[in-house]
Amino acid sequence: MSETNSFLKEIIKTSNDIWTKGWAERNAGNISVRLDTEELHCNFNNKSPWQKLSRQLPGIGGDYFLVSGTGKYIRNIPVDPEASLGIIEVDKSGENYRTVWGYKDGGRPTSELAAHLQAHSVRKNMTNGRDRALIHTHPANLIALTYALELDTCSLTRLLWEMHAECIVVFPEGVEFLPWMMAGSDQIADATAEAFRKRNMVVWQYHGIFATGDDLDTAFGLIDTVEKAAEIHIKVMSLGGCKQKPSIDTLRAIAANFGKVPAPDIIDRLV
Ligand code: 13P
Ligand code: ZN
Repeated sequence: MSETNSFLKEIIKTSNDIWTKGWAERNAGNISVRLDTEELHCNFNNKSPWQKLSRQLPGIGGDYFLVSGTGKYIRNIPVDPEASLGIIEVDKSGENYRTVWGYKDGGRPTSELAAHLQAHSVRKNMTNGRDRALIHTHPANLIALTYALELDTCSLTRLLWEMHAECIVVFPEGVEFLPWMMAGSDQIADATAEAFRKRNMVVWQYHGIFATGDDLDTAFGLIDTVEKAAEIHIKVMSLGGCKQKPSIDTLRAIAANFGKVPAPDIIDRLV
């Protein structure tokens, strides 16, 4: 596997960006990309034994994924991609997976593999195969909001839409808020995948965010926008709070101006 390979180039750039942003302390965060099999020109001759997935995922049967390794540091992906990353193959039935490349020092996929693969299965289906990328990170301002405020999907989305006039254009689908659940559990994987039926971002209380898109740049851009809005909120509060903000009608008008339709299950509940 050569680093000139387009998907390795893309994940190396995104890893650098995530580290530079400060969203991935230590081994925080994980990344996965559903690969275009046409791009996989290599012979994989070091395959691991098959391992059972916690849920059967026939929708991604036969697919290959580039997945960051558990315990690996995102900032080290550019330094040593073959140790920090792996490529896994899901069998045709969607019941098992095996590693076909990477994790060279005996590593294995992220502890959030269930959330990634279940979310990929949902997004592949919902977007007719368009969405291929998923990023999970720990951005500080957004996490801080989940401590300081009592949030649900509506109130969090509203706050973020209000805190920068472009937000409703970038994520009209809103952001799903999930109350704390154990990281790496099937419970959080199931809830995250379910949330991706409606949204392309899911916030985990006290923990971080998951975002999806057609490529890593798109998923990165969504998190960047949410984190900027969270940062503006904190700055506004430190300046004494909001003296004014866009009304719900103004938010609707901005979305309409850019041909976007805000999630009805959120905007219709805001007054
Ligand atoms: P991994 O090192 O297993 O990818 O876990 C990092 C993380 O952020 C868990 O939520
Ligand atoms: Zn995490």
